[in-house]
Amino acid sequence: MSLLQQINESISTIPKKYKEMKESELHKRVVTIKQELGDELFIPGHHYQKDNVIHYADARGDSLELAQRSAQTSASHIVFCGVHFMAETADILSSDTQKVYLPDLRAGCSMADMANIKQTERGFSILTDLLGPSIIPMTYVNSTAAIKSFVGTHNGATLTSSNAKSMLRWAFERGERILFLPDQHLGRNTAYELGVPLNQMGVWNPILEKLEYEGDLKDLKIILWKGHCSVHENFTLSNVSDIRKKHPNMKILVHPECSREVVSQSDDAGSTRYIIDTIEKAPSGSSWAIGTEMNLVNRLINQHPDKHIISLNPSMCPCLTMNRIDLPHLTWSLDCIYEGQPVNQIIVDKDTSKFAKIALERMLAKA
Ligand code: 13P
Ligand code: SF4
Repeated sequence: MSLLQQINESISTIPKKYKEMKESELHKRVVTIKQELGDELFIPGHHYQKDNVIHYADARGDSLELAQRSAQTSASHIVFCGVHFMAETADILSSDTQKVYLPDLRAGCSMADMANIKQTERGFSILTDLLGPSIIPMTYVNSTAAIKSFVGTHNGATLTSSNAKSMLRWAFERGERILFLPDQHLGRNTAYELGVPLNQMGVWNPILEKLEYEGDLKDLKIILWKGHCSVHENFTLSNVSDIRKKHPNMKILVHPECSREVVSQSDDAGSTRYIIDTIEKAPSGSSWAIGTEMNLVNRLINQHPDKHIISLNPSMCPCLTMNRIDLPHLTWSLDCIYEGQPVNQIIVDKDTSKFAKIALERMLAKA
């Protein structure tokens, strides 16, 4: 069944009763099933999930931590509260007897959708013809299993925002240049931190099949796929200057999926784990404007009443696809597993899985 067919099936089949149940009934049902299934069930939850979903997670984490936990669990049923690429990663890293489910198949990632395997094969082939064979393809985990498999086949690896720096160093030891998929901003911010000047970075436009680069090709160090996160692009330089004017003592802390301009004008940048740790360690009374997804920012605001925390963008920025996972879908998913009729299983085929796993393991070995 194609992904589109699966999605349509998911949309049409969540029974109405779950949308009509009171939150207290849904809560009772989730708690009961969790108790009944015990160690057979594992629920990983990404930091961007809603509070009333993350509450039930057996492990909460950033993309790297959740990949690590998915590789370690022995539960037979893994119900992923995150987005599609994370559930695929869990399926690749778990054993053949374990099953991974995504409570709502519409929970995709708009950034991951900005690169498909055909474009990747074509782009890599054109760039290799132009620049020679020494290009290492590296992909942010926010990508399809097929792209992870492609980089695994071509001596590359996956990375996340918490290990991007060490993974790019790893890649530069293996090749002259890197093709970085699919987030140009994480790629640019990380390469810049490693000392690569902006004028040695090019951008690959997969729609026009064009390399956007004005320098001498021999100096080109990294080719950034022209993709971005639709949530983090909503943090702008004008948000930064508003904060500087209104709150001169406030620190600005952003995720590296924000643009280079925003990161360079901020005080600090890091993965969701880094943002959480920084706020936890910050002194009482300190002030922070945070540039990342709204559920996480709101959680930090509620968890740290002794600190002044606001969103860098006052309109707040939700990840609409992450938010597809809600309590009714989680309850439905668990009920179906409990009744022996699971829905929305995420299955990565064996051939794709084999090399995608190699790409992920190269990353996990370094993490
Ligand atoms: P991290 O969890 O790696 O910080 O990534 C954030 C994100 O956008 C996940 O999709
Ligand atoms: Fe994808 Fe951005 Fe949502 Fe993360 S926040 S899942 S990168 S769209």
